[in-house]
Amino acid sequence: MRPSKRLDRIPPYLFAEIDKKVDEAKAKGYDIINLGIGDPDTPTFPHIVEEMHKAIDDPLTHNYPPYQGTVAFRTACADWMKERFGANLDPNDEIIALIGSKEGIAHVFFAFVDPGDYTLVPDPAYPVYRNGTILAGGIPYYMPINPQNNYLPELDKIPEDIAKQSKIIFLNYPNNPTGAVGNLEYFKEVLDFAKKYDILICHDQAYCEMTFDGYVAPSFLEIEGAKDHCIEFFSHSKSYNMTGWRIGWAAGGAKPMKALGTIKNNIDSGAFKAIQRAGINALGSPQSEIDSLNEMYKRRRDVMIEGLKELGWNIDPCLATFYLWIPTPKGMSSVDFAELMLEKTHVIVPPGNGWGEAGEGFFRIALTVDEEKLKEVIQRMKNAGIRYE
Ligand code: MLT
Repeated sequence: MRPSKRLDRIPPYLFAEIDKKVDEAKAKGYDIINLGIGDPDTPTFPHIVEEMHKAIDDPLTHNYPPYQGTVAFRTACADWMKERFGANLDPNDEIIALIGSKEGIAHVFFAFVDPGDYTLVPDPAYPVYRNGTILAGGIPYYMPINPQNNYLPELDKIPEDIAKQSKIIFLNYPNNPTGAVGNLEYFKEVLDFAKKYDILICHDQAYCEMTFDGYVAPSFLEIEGAKDHCIEFFSHSKSYNMTGWRIGWAAGGAKPMKALGTIKNNIDSGAFKAIQRAGINALGSPQSEIDSLNEMYKRRRDVMIEGLKELGWNIDPCLATFYLWIPTPKGMSSVDFAELMLEKTHVIVPPGNGWGEAGEGFFRIALTVDEEKLKEVIQRMKNAGIRYE
């Protein structure tokens, strides 16, 4: 039986391909160091696990959860948003629990995009923005981000006729894969643009708590009047080491949130209530726990940047995320560099063009192994004669 034609337009999923490469390399007996997916290597905070043990023993968590999330979970998210951003969100209709933020991100396109509509998607970007658009029958318009524009899409370069046909502009700051950060001034420009063309701002906030050197990531929801034009997607995955738990939330004005909720009501039955209880506990984590996690990533960032310097790379330290976005040696494509790293050093680094054509000429490192292993990566590169020149 022939699968749907829309699948013909979806490239193989980047991280599934990387998993395959890891398995093949392991089967060859390679001692792999995997700097591929951004999956934290330290465990979920113990108090969250403890809360989960209690929650799972309580039969009240075993039946269907409310579609939009439990009142307690939505209230905890709203309180967190108030405390963190000063944003006022009504837990009744402005917060929805997600089965991980990826789930909400993929579904939001079905809520707003009709066949033939455009979405405005950065290039490079998390693949789900592009693929979610295509699965909903839409057309992604790629907004290049690069060192020249500080990795912020240039709104004045979007053709007027495309803007008029666009339903969503997708942004992500702190940014995956580049580690770049946004700022409120830019967010205000985006809001004006979105109001002018009646476009929904979707903002992926997965990395908003993973910041260094005193940088604090802003939210669109801090801006007066932004709520009705915006949905932000938050994730427990990266800041509480909870990638496998699949929990997060969406926040925004009641009208856009209703549309997302309608799609979700018809597709999933909500996040397991015990996980929502663990998610509430996570949001109450002492700031010192988040700070020490960030300290760890910052040390890794600095070790890697120092090591790469010895090999000819001059990388500016990123202010957020556990990713380094690095140019390939001159004349070498992203894929050739990733292959070279795999064959000569047994280190997995994803090629930049996995995040879009404009990622060509770059590769990404996830700082998800300890400092000793990162030093070993540098040593293996030295031994293999891999340098930036
Ligand atoms: C990444 O490596 O880009 C992310 O971990 C992928 C994800 O969050 O799904």
